Order: sequence, then C-alpha cells, then structure tokens
Amino acid sequence: MQDVRIWLVSIIVLITASMYGIYQALDAGLMDKHYIFTPEKLHALALSSIEQHGNNTADLVATIIETLRADPNIAPYISTEEEWMFNNAGGAMGAMYMIHCSLTEYLLIFGTAIGTEGHSGRHTADDYFHIIQGTQVAYLPGPGNYEPEVYPQGSVHHLKRGVVKQYKMDSSCFALEYARGWIPGMMLFGYMDGLTSTMDWGTLIATTRRTGGEIIGNLLKGKI
Ligand SMILES: *[C@@H]1O[C@H](CO)[C@@H](O)[C@H](O)[C@H]1NC(C)=O
Repeated sequence: MQDVRIWLVSIIVLITASMYGIYQALDAGLMDKHYIFTPEKLHALALSSIEQHGNNTADLVATIIETLRADPNIAPYISTEEEWMFNNAGGAMGAMYMIHCSLTEYLLIFGTAIGTEGHSGRHTADDYFHIIQGTQVAYLPGPGNYEPEVYPQGSVHHLKRGVVKQYKMDSSCFALEYARGWIPGMMLFGYMDGLTSTMDWGTLIATTRRTGGEIIGNLLKGKI
C-alpha cells in the first residue's frame, strides 16, 4: 500500500514539475521565434473582413482565408482544404474548420449556427477568440464578480493560459480562434467529450487525421 502511495506521489510531482517547466519556457519567450501569426494582425484581419462583409459569414471567412493565402510567410503552412467537423469539448458543441495547426499554434474558424455553452478548459496556450459574427459571453467567478463578460462581433476574447471560464453563445456565433503556446497540452481536453460521451468515432478520426496531418506536415516544413 505504502509503495503504491509513494509511486503515485512521485508521478504527480513529476507531472507537475514538467508542466511547470513548460510554463516557464513559454514565459521566458523561448517559443516566440516559432510563431507565424500575431494576435494583433489577426484582429486587424477580422475587423477588415467584418467591415467588408458585415454579417455575410461565408464571404467573411473566404476573405480571411484569401488574405492569409496571399501572405508568403503564412501561405505554406495553411491547409488547402475547407474541411468542417464537429468539436465537443467541456460540454460545449460546435464545429471547426482548421486553417493551421502546429506544435505551438493553431488557427481555426470555430462556431455554431444555433448556440452552445460549456467549460473553456484550462489550457497550456493563450487563446484569442476573434468574434466575426454573433456574441459570446463568459463568466469568471471571483470576489465581487457578478457580471458576464460580453464579447460582441469584432471583439477579442483573450483566454489567458491557465485561466478557466464558463462561456456561452446564445445563438449563431462564429470566431477566428487563435491558440498560441503548447498545443499538445490542449488536445486531451479536445478529445475527452468524444471518448467519454459522444463516442462519435467518425469525428474523432477526422479530428486526429486533420490535426496529426497538419502538425506533421508543418514539422516536415520546419514549422514547430
Ligand atoms: C450583424 O448583425 C447584428 C445583429 O443584427 C448587428 O447588431 C450588427 O451590427 C451586424 N454587423 C454588421 C457589421 O453589420
């Protein structure tokens, strides 16, 4: 019995220490040179697309993709196919179209035409949720915190690494979601609802094929 306990404690200490190590590496800016996107440029891109297309989400997304493809520093690393798949995570359900995925960044269109609500997850990457259509609300509990955070079209919901919130989209809402940090650390969260609840193997396989394909493809091009 004692042996088992010693092993368990050692494993927990090891996992915590390595998580802490990754966090420290991120804080020290060790990964900065690997990034191909910046939150500032993506926000500007979201805003100019909204200005051009208003609430025509299809045209808005098309402009975002065309602009990214026209940038020679980004074009080689973005997917060439508009493939949509469901994503169930933290009790929320929506759909995503993955534009880029590597070990340190992902960029995707995430949203739903009918609304959803759930747990944000506690992540090893910063998450910038650029709202391109609709409104998202979020709740962060704390002393004196009784009001929702409201993120309308054109705003950015920055969920900082390690922070967790409840979030909701009352009705149709789509976002250009950019995650920046240690992406593999976010993946288990993205799979658990599928493995423990929906058991939608088609979606799980599509997600694995897409994510794995993008990460490996980008690694082969030298993009970490
Ligand atoms: C999109 O629709 C919403 C809700 O009708 C409206 O408040 C918003 O101003 C529209 N956005 C644009 C850019 O026209």
